Amino acid sequence: MTHLSVEKNGPVTTVRFTRPEKKNALDLAMYEAWAAAFEEAATDDAVRVVVLTGSAGIFTAGNDIGDFMRNPPTGESSPVFRVLTAVRTFPKPIVAAVDGPAIGIGTTILLHCDLVIATESARFQLPFVNLALVPEAASSVLLPSLVGMHRAAEWLMLGEAFDARAALVAGLVNRVVTADALEPTAQDLAARLAQKPKEALRLTKKLLRGPTSAQVEQTMRDESALFLERLASAEAMEAFMAFASRKSK
Ligand code: COA
Repeated sequence: MTHLSVEKNGPVTTVRFTRPEKKNALDLAMYEAWAAAFEEAATDDAVRVVVLTGSAGIFTAGNDIGDFMRNPPTGESSPVFRVLTAVRTFPKPIVAAVDGPAIGIGTTILLHCDLVIATESARFQLPFVNLALVPEAASSVLLPSLVGMHRAAEWLMLGEAFDARAALVAGLVNRVVTADALEPTAQDLAARLAQKPKEALRLTKKLLRGPTSAQVEQTMRDESALFLERLASAEAMEAFMAFASRKSK
């Protein structure tokens, strides 16, 4: 069973993480399904907008830490890299809707979305350094350009969680709404975007992302190479084991 659903509703496709019992931690099958959903939506003329969301109380706890040990990514053909490429190059608007924790890729993927709606209980965290890893998804360049160098350094180096208010002030999210309003707000924004002239919207996204796209692509590659090295390090293995054994302590 794949813990990711793809719901098509007219011009809006909703991609939803559905593994709440594991805090929507992303395993290989979920990455594969996520990449396939975006690759298909990119070329399907009927799809005008994609909504990316999680479950009530949890967006995603990021990469499945067990999978970091069992099935680590090996390079650009790995499902996680396919996801990053598919989302980075997605030509249509993406609206993200975040409730609860959005950890690791749960936060970095937002840098590639166009509109981000969060609830008051959304929590963001970039714990790469804590896990002896490095930033991914081109966050080392996109984050400082969005929120400023010092805030990006704090979030990426201390790796502590920050709340929806901080994310709003920093410009990482567009709006903070109540939990009940999350899905309706995201769907309403998606429906409004879906009514815009399609080609004008595509060109606007291209103009917004175009000037930095080569740098973003190269940074993603450079980060990935370092990330793979770090995954094989003794200090990363120690951090993963500490997470795996934390409940038995
Ligand atoms: N990978 C694998 N399993 C994960 C996971 C992850 N990233 N995040 C949560 N889970 C699992 C837990 O192991 C637990 O499984 P179990 O019930 O079989 O023991 C279950 O999801 C519930 O998680 P739990 O930690 O008990 O919930 P919580 O509400 O106390 O905390 C989080 C939620 C998301 C804050 C916490 O789980 C967490 O910090 N996860 C790790 C985040 C992370 O570092 N991700 C890597 C990013 S690169």
